[in-house]
Amino acid sequence: MKEVMILDHPLIQHKLTMIRNKKTDLKNFREIVDELSTMMAYEVTRDIPLKDIKIETPIVKTTGKAIANKKMAIVAVLRAGLGMVGGILRLIPSAKVGHIGIYRDPKTLKPVCYYVKLPEDIAKRDVIIVDPMLATGGTAVATVDYIRKFTRTDIKFMCLVAAPEGIRVVREHYKDVKIYTTTVDERLNEHAYIVPGLGDAGDRLFGTK
Ligand code: URA
Repeated sequence: MKEVMILDHPLIQHKLTMIRNKKTDLKNFREIVDELSTMMAYEVTRDIPLKDIKIETPIVKTTGKAIANKKMAIVAVLRAGLGMVGGILRLIPSAKVGHIGIYRDPKTLKPVCYYVKLPEDIAKRDVIIVDPMLATGGTAVATVDYIRKFTRTDIKFMCLVAAPEGIRVVREHYKDVKIYTTTVDERLNEHAYIVPGLGDAGDRLFGTK
């Protein structure tokens, strides 16, 4: 299994450049993140199982393919992950949505979970964690740690931009969590921002800076 999937479709790469550009305004940034999330959802769901169902076309009786009752949950990492939820729900409207908020304690540097609300039946659902930026990997690992307490189902991690450091940390902890991204950037800077990156995804999505 390929552990890191870089989605290099030309439309995805074009839109990635648009959100990297600091001149892209709030409205366009938000819309493009939403569009990218829909496009990525297409790839993230590539392995969902199908079953045969019998139908009738206007011409004949035939057998067609249909999704084999796969249940999914999207878990958005607060707050920037919220910007990716709508785009995925467009393709998987029956998915349930969980939320998780994690911050790093400045003294211990350990991740602290300050908010969590997951679907009650998460143990029956495959999970897609969404967070636009996979930077140090600390939040991603803490999120998987938390979700793993409740389910042994498949977990995928979907981000827009990943740093090599973040990928390494997730891979060290969870070899079975496949990462989907549109790019693996160069590195983190001294403030743990991704370079070249796109800045603070939350601020750019919500206009808070
Ligand atoms: N979070 C962000 O929003 N941007 C980064 O570059 C790193 C983490």
